[in-house]
Amino acid sequence: MSERIGDYSAAERNKRPIFEALVEHLSQARAVLEVGAGDATHARYALERLPHCVWQTSEAPGHHRRLVAALADSADHRLPRPLALDVRAAWPAGPYDAVFGANVAHIMDWAAVEALFAGAATVLRPAGRLCLYGPFLRRGETPRPGNATFDAALRDRDPAMGLREIEALNALAQQQGLVALDDIAMPSDNRLLIWQKSGDRSF
Ligand SMILES: C[S@@+](CC[C@H](N)C(=O)[O-])C[C@H]1O[C@@H](n2cnc3c(N)ncnc32)[C@H](O)[C@@H]1O
Repeated sequence: MSERIGDYSAAERNKRPIFEALVEHLSQARAVLEVGAGDATHARYALERLPHCVWQTSEAPGHHRRLVAALADSADHRLPRPLALDVRAAWPAGPYDAVFGANVAHIMDWAAVEALFAGAATVLRPAGRLCLYGPFLRRGETPRPGNATFDAALRDRDPAMGLREIEALNALAQQQGLVALDDIAMPSDNRLLIWQKSGDRSF
């Protein structure tokens, strides 16, 4: 995780394990929307691991220009021009086979996390997947020291930020018709959480 917003060096370290896990889940995906895409490190790597995907990046309007600049050298049609997307505002029409976000849920306030699940449920095709990577907590479990320290530091900086409980995210998902599909342990006490929209399209 980037300890500071705007410091995307963690993405370079975590991209490999994230996509080792994601390839299985997104092998049939052709259109993916990434929220809070940062400097597009994951997006660029996604195309190496998922070469059949069109990976639509997006960023909150305040960070959008930096993302556009980060992809300015790319002429690859699989990396279309980034969208300015605040998850609390209007979403693109879609549909997408998957929505991906890395290290976003603990940066967004809870209203934005709710909007993320609602927006994803709207733009996903039947059987599409919402995939969130990052540090998460489990209700009733003592967090690992690194996550506890990180959570405290985030809340110190902004009380609206903080590591999210998987159970609370599952409840949001359920409200939006998304079913918990996988929960994969990742290096450094991070996790990759995957929910699937109802529907029977083979994926
Ligand atoms: C810690 S950074 C992670 C960036 C990138 N995904 C990575 O892993 O390097 C969190 C990102 O969430 C984005 N973000 C925060 N609130 C948002 C919102 N309401 N809508 C969309 N993106 C948001 C920020 O702009 C920021 O780029």
